[in-house]
Amino acid sequence: MEFVGFRDGWRGPLENDSRPLGIDEVRGILPRGGTILGSSRTNPFKMEGGVETITANLASSGCDALVAIGGEDTLGVATKLSELGVNVVGVPKTIDNDLSGTDFTFGFDTAVNIAMEAIDRLHTTAESHHRVLVVEVMGRHAGWIALHSGLAGGANIILIPERPFDIDKVCAQVKSRFATRYSPIIVVAEGATPAEGTMELLTGETDAFGHVRLGGIGDRLAKEIETRTGEEARAVVLGHVQRGGTPTAFDRWLATRFGLHAAQAVHEQAFGSMVALRGTDIVRVPLTEGTDELKTVRPELYEEAEVLFG
Ligand code: F6P
Repeated sequence: MEFVGFRDGWRGPLENDSRPLGIDEVRGILPRGGTILGSSRTNPFKMEGGVETITANLASSGCDALVAIGGEDTLGVATKLSELGVNVVGVPKTIDNDLSGTDFTFGFDTAVNIAMEAIDRLHTTAESHHRVLVVEVMGRHAGWIALHSGLAGGANIILIPERPFDIDKVCAQVKSRFATRYSPIIVVAEGATPAEGTMELLTGETDAFGHVRLGGIGDRLAKEIETRTGEEARAVVLGHVQRGGTPTAFDRWLATRFGLHAAQAVHEQAFGSMVALRGTDIVRVPLTEGTDELKTVRPELYEEAEVLFG
């Protein structure tokens, strides 16, 4: 969870660091990904006294407002804190792009570009060795990264959590691709599941937010395809590579504009709101609009891409 505190100016995040956080501290962060404050994804509502500690720390440090920057978990916590009377403004930031109320979250475009570049590279080696390459990307509940990177990278099959897949159909598409003397690239979101529920994919472990730790759909799929088609199939799991490195121009543009509008929202005491992108405009929506319901891939968007499969 990334929280930035506002006071007379900005304040340093470190204990005993009373220097006002000014232009020097934020200068040069545009090309940096990850957390700047050193925060991490934790759930204060699952920790004994977590919420009390937050409210006490905010009061004692004289913070007027919190800008919560994150995805469904961070902004879910921010929404609850807001309901408890904390002055919160939300900023939608997640590679998953699955927050409602905004057309795009920042971080998404960078992850898509990383995945696209990987798919580009995999095409040549797949052709050289006449193999099926399965690329597993992030996306627990929503297939946005898979859909966008798969289309951008020219994948032959894209599998997303919103649409349980038919393994027979996937194998038929693999064969038809080989029949045209090209090697298939399959992009699969980590949360994709087979329609029949025949392949056990979950590890059983859960994280602080109760999410089941997903385990290896890419590998399972590659093995299944190899067994069923007789074609050599390998899996590449992009994992946290998608969350690293330097942000794209689009993400820098979006994050900068979100930041400007979040500061303005604090200035105007528009607490309990989230800044959001609608078309090319930045608007304010209630925090709950961003977090009540996940934004998943609409069926018609997937069907549009499906025309290119096989
Ligand atoms: O929400 C961002 C995200 O990268 C998801 O795409 C992914 O399912 C999850 O976080 C992974 O979380 P962790 O790094 O805690 O395993």
